[in-house]
Amino acid sequence: MSEIAKLELEGQTYEIPVIAGTENEKALDISKLRGQTGYITLDRGFKNTGSCMSAITFLDGEKGILRYRGYPIEQLAEQASFLEVTYLILYGELPTKAQLAEFEEDISQHTLVHEDMKRFFEAYPAKAHPMGILASMICSMSTFYPESQDPNRPEDAFQLTIKRLIAKLPTLAAMVYKNSVRHPFMYPKNDLGYIENFMYMTWGMPTEEFEPDPVIASALNKLLILHADHEQNCSASTVRIVGSSQANLYASISAGVSALWGPLHGGANQAVIEMLEAIREDGGDLDKWIAKAKDKNDPFRLMGFGHRVYKNFDPRATIIKKACDDVLDKLGIDDPTLDLAKKLEEVALNDPYFVERGLYPNVDFYSGIIYRAIGIPTEMFTVMFAFGRLPGWIAQWKEMLDNGDPIGRPRQVYTGENERQYVPLENR
Ligand code: CMC
Repeated sequence: MSEIAKLELEGQTYEIPVIAGTENEKALDISKLRGQTGYITLDRGFKNTGSCMSAITFLDGEKGILRYRGYPIEQLAEQASFLEVTYLILYGELPTKAQLAEFEEDISQHTLVHEDMKRFFEAYPAKAHPMGILASMICSMSTFYPESQDPNRPEDAFQLTIKRLIAKLPTLAAMVYKNSVRHPFMYPKNDLGYIENFMYMTWGMPTEEFEPDPVIASALNKLLILHADHEQNCSASTVRIVGSSQANLYASISAGVSALWGPLHGGANQAVIEMLEAIREDGGDLDKWIAKAKDKNDPFRLMGFGHRVYKNFDPRATIIKKACDDVLDKLGIDDPTLDLAKKLEEVALNDPYFVERGLYPNVDFYSGIIYRAIGIPTEMFTVMFAFGRLPGWIAQWKEMLDNGDPIGRPRQVYTGENERQYVPLENR
């Protein structure tokens, strides 16, 4: 028999069903609460609210566990390719060799973006932030594929949209980069692998031969896998809620890119490097910056530290920290920022303020150092996060539709004026 919780309210007892997930995560199902009691629940920032049932990603913030479709992130980051993980996240199972080959082939057939999209780039100011351009470009794709706007189209058509997005995002990301340095766009070269093709479009030049560096390809592969999904975070929830109105996939993903841009979410990777640079330029007094982060009257926060869900450690940060040492070592780069980041981590982790609040380095603390080492400019870091997160957003969006979730529409507790009468302008 399923478990029942009891709620006592104004002398009445109500039964609330208890739901358990496959990892025994427990939830109170309050979907009938308002109808039965007239009450709603209030949970600012959704800190205790489950918005959906999901079979994509499991994470346990206390134990530092992250699994995609049941597979531990450590194993995937070490052994899998990003497209393999993309397939896993989208379709629920690891692909066989034949399935992966077919998927890679399919993706390589859709890498070109419509030639007219090149013209959009002419209109952006030279200093336009890459995330603003990326969000607009992804949303613009819906205008080139108007059939994607039909919520009742057959499954094949959905799959084509999904493949188009996965194939074209690296092309768009590379175009955003080329535009920022005012270099000519490079058309995709489809005999290259997915990541190598992105590298070619980003760092290749029409006049030169380009040989993708395997150290960089492998670092990118790992970083993209680590970002591929993270259950109901701010951007994934945004994608789901936009999609719940039956807005098309391109529009929903574009909204996810915008949500990711903020410095409290994916934009933290850019903010971390800027913070480390500022600390260095300021003379490197770590105690001073730690004191600033602890001061409630100072808006400064230690960027790359803390997480809504992880309260012990972020397993992605552990993998990235190690990868950081490996990559810099293999590329022969000595980056003083890495030493500074390690020292800052050590000081913070020995400070009761951070320990008591469970604030540890998150995925963004060390990722920027690798991105910089492999030649990605600071303002492009969050674009790389979006590139990695794309399969997760798509899978979350599709799962929401397949589960028949209703339109997302929270309620509120109104705190404004009670009814009052309009006063004509001449009497005010
Ligand atoms: N520096 C200083 N204090 C912090 C920090 C920080 N980075 N993060 C949280 N706190 C404090 C916060 O002031 C609060 O203190 P108190 O209890 O005294 O009021 C306490 O810790 C709990 O913080 P919160 O803001 O209630 O926690 P949250 O779950 O709402 O926020 C967070 C999570 C990630 C937004 C926050 O930790 C933060 O702003 N971190 C810095 C930005 C960052 O690195 N974001 C990337 C997150 S990981 C990538 C991704 O988005 O997936």
